[in-house]
Amino acid sequence: MSVRRLADDNVQPASFAFSKENATWAKATINKYPKGRQQSAVIPLLMRAQEQDGWVTKAAIEYVADMLDMAYIRVLEVATFYTQFQLLPVGTRAHVQVCGTTPCMLRGAEDLINVCKKRIHPEPFHLNESGTLSWEEVECQGACVNAPMIMIFKDSYEDLTPTQLEHIIDRFDAGKGSDVTPGTQVDRIYSAPAGGLTSLNEPEPAAKKTTTRAKKADEDSVSVPPSNAARAKTDAEETDPKLKTPATAKAEAAANTKAKGETRAEGGDASAKQPIAAAVGKPSLEDKNRPAGIERPATLDDLKLISGVGPKIEGTLHELGIFTFAQVAGWKKAEREWVDLYLNFKGRIERDDWVKQAKALAKGGEAEYIRVFGKKPR
Ligand code: FES
Repeated sequence: MSVRRLADDNVQPASFAFSKENATWAKATINKYPKGRQQSAVIPLLMRAQEQDGWVTKAAIEYVADMLDMAYIRVLEVATFYTQFQLLPVGTRAHVQVCGTTPCMLRGAEDLINVCKKRIHPEPFHLNESGTLSWEEVECQGACVNAPMIMIFKDSYEDLTPTQLEHIIDRFDAGKGSDVTPGTQVDRIYSAPAGGLTSLNEPEPAAKKTTTRAKKADEDSVSVPPSNAARAKTDAEETDPKLKTPATAKAEAAANTKAKGETRAEGGDASAKQPIAAAVGKPSLEDKNRPAGIERPATLDDLKLISGVGPKIEGTLHELGIFTFAQVAGWKKAEREWVDLYLNFKGRIERDDWVKQAKALAKGGEAEYIRVFGKKPR
């Protein structure tokens, strides 16, 4: 990463002032902090200055310092420390920050840097011909598990290939950066394993009924004296039943009884003996609670805008005939539970409130989503 300095004087504007709207916002932001702690607002104020003018000028640093009664050097230290602050004029449509720290470098960051050199400018911090794009190499952005990655303003784009980065640059250069969903660009949910879970992927066991025998075993196991239960057993004790203490033998018998109680269906019917886990699985496609599917429409809603839906889950929903936000928005509780079980989602549909998200997206797309949730989808 290059040394971070203020831009040359010949590009620095003579003065800075917040717009009326930003000045009101800044005042309210400063007032959020306790008396005497107003300096805590330095980062949000610098960020707002950058959003207003596109970069952080020397005049903006001094203006923010005056507002917060801070020494200029203190605000300069903050602005030069964080790579989120741009100290030079950058591309008006995108400033691409490529992480070049070791995990990203090992996973192909150099190829991404070469794309930036080819598509934007051979040197970092130089604008392309039309002034819309620029790039730089930065240190770890905290998304190493999805390396390699880039940041463009406040969003990260992860698990990138050079081809995907070219596509992202094209969209931003065309003023359509919002077409690209931030986050991982492969088949994974956030930083979960690519291609689906590799562990903890069995269905949750159904809530087991405690049989009388199992309950008794539980009580017996509690009665083992802690001193004996906690004592490490010798190898001989483990293998020779004659050497087991009465408490140890009793505890093991209780554990065996309990295990049997868990794996057998109640009633003693031999044909019903099966592990509970085997009895729980995907719900039947014929189940009455399966949400109704529709024919694949000519235009599909991008279900991936719903938090929790990645490319793989979207494909599964399509297989079920679910193609639109309106369909998801209309799911009843039993239908949500059916889909949750089908996706092995462990309640995530409720936790992420897919119905509320889908209602907002169906009503007014991304703008309505932002109005309802205060942030962009995904
Ligand atoms: S090393 Fe690139 S995000 Fe951490």
